[in-house]
Amino acid sequence: MDGNSTPTSIVTIDDLTNSQIEDVLDLAAEIDRDRDAFYGVASRRIMASLFLEPSTRTRGSFESAMNRLGGRTITTTDARSSSMAKGESLADTVRIWSGYADLLVIRHPWEGAARLAAEYSDVPVINAGDGGHEHPTQTLLDLYTLRNEYKTLEGLRIAICGDLKNSRTVHSLVYALIRFGAEIIFVPAQGLELPDHVRNKMETVYDRRIERVDPGALQALYGADLGEAENAAKVDALYITPSQPHLRAMYEEGAKIEIQLQDGRPLAIYVTRQQVERGSDLSEESGAARAYPRINASTMSGSDFSKSIIMHPLPRVDELSPDMDSDHRSKYFVQARNGVPVRMALISLILGLKPWGARSMAQPSSATAGQVIPQTDYIRCATPDCVTQKEAQNARAEFTFFRQPVVRFVCAYCEREVKPGYFARPRGAVYYPIDQFLYPSWDASDSLFFTDVNDAEALGLRPALIAARAEPLAVEVTR
Ligand code: NCD
Repeated sequence: MDGNSTPTSIVTIDDLTNSQIEDVLDLAAEIDRDRDAFYGVASRRIMASLFLEPSTRTRGSFESAMNRLGGRTITTTDARSSSMAKGESLADTVRIWSGYADLLVIRHPWEGAARLAAEYSDVPVINAGDGGHEHPTQTLLDLYTLRNEYKTLEGLRIAICGDLKNSRTVHSLVYALIRFGAEIIFVPAQGLELPDHVRNKMETVYDRRIERVDPGALQALYGADLGEAENAAKVDALYITPSQPHLRAMYEEGAKIEIQLQDGRPLAIYVTRQQVERGSDLSEESGAARAYPRINASTMSGSDFSKSIIMHPLPRVDELSPDMDSDHRSKYFVQARNGVPVRMALISLILGLKPWGARSMAQPSSATAGQVIPQTDYIRCATPDCVTQKEAQNARAEFTFFRQPVVRFVCAYCEREVKPGYFARPRGAVYYPIDQFLYPSWDASDSLFFTDVNDAEALGLRPALIAARAEPLAVEVTR
């Protein structure tokens, strides 16, 4: 979206401003109060659901939502039963489906598939999960659940646990929570910590500091796992604080802060399963048992958790025990049910069947840091599941450039980082190692960046013999 209008497609949670998110939740609350009053809102509209990855809740609740609005749905749930099995591209599939429906809801194993779909569709596209990238509508229902519980979205405290590396629900959720000023404690499974690109986005796009902390009482969630893990090193939690100056300034460098849960502020605990289908099952490879935070009656018995609520996007495997199901703190089944009113609200707004609030019409989106530069001919996204790899002929290579914390390009589709190894200055005859791209006066858009040194050599550039300088050397100019 351009930041000054209402969104046409929802590819990431950043396609919605905070007040647009609140509009969706407000309308969902209205729907919850009198659902039948909304029957007929989407009559004569068709929603196509393209679910090319397994789904129970997301497809079920999207289709239920459309039906409860009086609209109709057409669906594909298996690439083998569509022309994709004959080699049809995703771009063509989307072009065709967008001629049959007024709205496309897509789930796909490729990261960035929803963005590609939005580029080729004539009708709005909603991302129902694109590989390990994002799952923005899950975030909307997570926020709805949190807001129903705490009556606000501002300043929440939440522990996000489990597979932080590959859970798309986590990635979308943290971006939204940060924007609403939450205090977030990350409690990762060992080896499945938050990926660098998500951390870097939190720091550079949202300007939030991240501290490494001792999980304190949250350590209890690992139960016996930590002791049993071959590598029994303690798992560090990460902590982000909405307040500035950030905590590290108050402590000695290297000192760890321990999380204090007894200050009366409530704690939501959000648990996720190990995303085995996205390569998170590394236990065989490492030969080590993985310490995984688990929720069960025993790990939840401490007084620190007496006022907590438990959330989970589901499906659960063994990280959330059924012995919690009748516990008053467990909210995950309510959370799943909330998918229907939230998606009814989103469908109504995105199709223009209900108006966005006045504040939502002209509010810039928050995620505008970084520099989109045209010159990225020699930068290639290396994410194997990125749509730019899978369907290169239809996905334009597009990157956002960041200097901090290191020079990197962020792929517009999967949002993962590409770190170029080399650069050359305009009209220069040489290329330099990227760690010499130091001078703030250098504009990224007039430099050349390379991930593969052969590309630099093919242009006739030679390796630099002396360090890069702010002013171009004479020898470089007279190429
Ligand atoms: C999640 C997903 O598909 O990413 N499920 C869901 O939509 N509720 C979480 C998961 O699969 O672990």
